[in-house]
Amino acid sequence: MRVDVVTLFPDMIDRPLSESIVGRARAAGLLELGFANPRDFTEDRHRTVDDRPYGGGTGMVMMAEPVYRALKKVKKRNSFVILLTPKGRKFDQAAALELSKKKRLVFICGHYEGIDERVTPLADLELSIGDYVLTGGEPAAVVVIDAVARLLPGALLKEDATVNETFAGGLLEAPHYTRPGVWRGQAVPAELLSGNHKLIAGWREVRARELTAKERPDLAVPAPAVKAVRRGKKILK
Ligand code: 6GU
Repeated sequence: MRVDVVTLFPDMIDRPLSESIVGRARAAGLLELGFANPRDFTEDRHRTVDDRPYGGGTGMVMMAEPVYRALKKVKKRNSFVILLTPKGRKFDQAAALELSKKKRLVFICGHYEGIDERVTPLADLELSIGDYVLTGGEPAAVVVIDAVARLLPGALLKEDATVNETFAGGLLEAPHYTRPGVWRGQAVPAELLSGNHKLIAGWREVRARELTAKERPDLAVPAPAVKAVRRGKKILK
């Protein structure tokens, strides 16, 4: 997948996406990440990218033309263009999965008070990562690209790592444990040590449902796999 980001601050995105799984995906060529800085597409001596808002108000607004030119540089016919803005559709795992199937993505990051509204029609989708205000779209771009990149075939070491994880099935994930079996007086649940794969699967299913009901009752829970739950509950007494 090829991803380009239109941003005034490429390092805010390039650096965090150079580590760990995404860094490895880039090194392996699964993800190609490029940048276009609107500042490089200005023509005045001061390389101006922002100006005061019409109608007054605080802060500065990014000018349309440098953003347009930067976008034009990186956008290809098959690019899917995403404008990052707190006004956009809420990003979630389903959106990550959708985006992971595209060949080329372009993200446009606003900074300061936002971008001149007239660039909005250039985007196929407006996306927000949550109901809070960031200084700019750059941290949001990191979040979205991370969530998408790890879904690219070959990005994770284990093929099935994304199947059972939190949100994949509309549920939070059951808790994880590793060695030692007892840590500061706290034992790992016996089911996980049983070696019985059916028992473990049942335990995880029950725990995932309990956890989701308690912490995220708003999450849509698919019709219960009645048998699996009962089987798990019986074993758990
Ligand atoms: Cl995409 N941008 C900004 N500036 N703030 C946000 C956001 C995006 N998503 C949540 N808050």
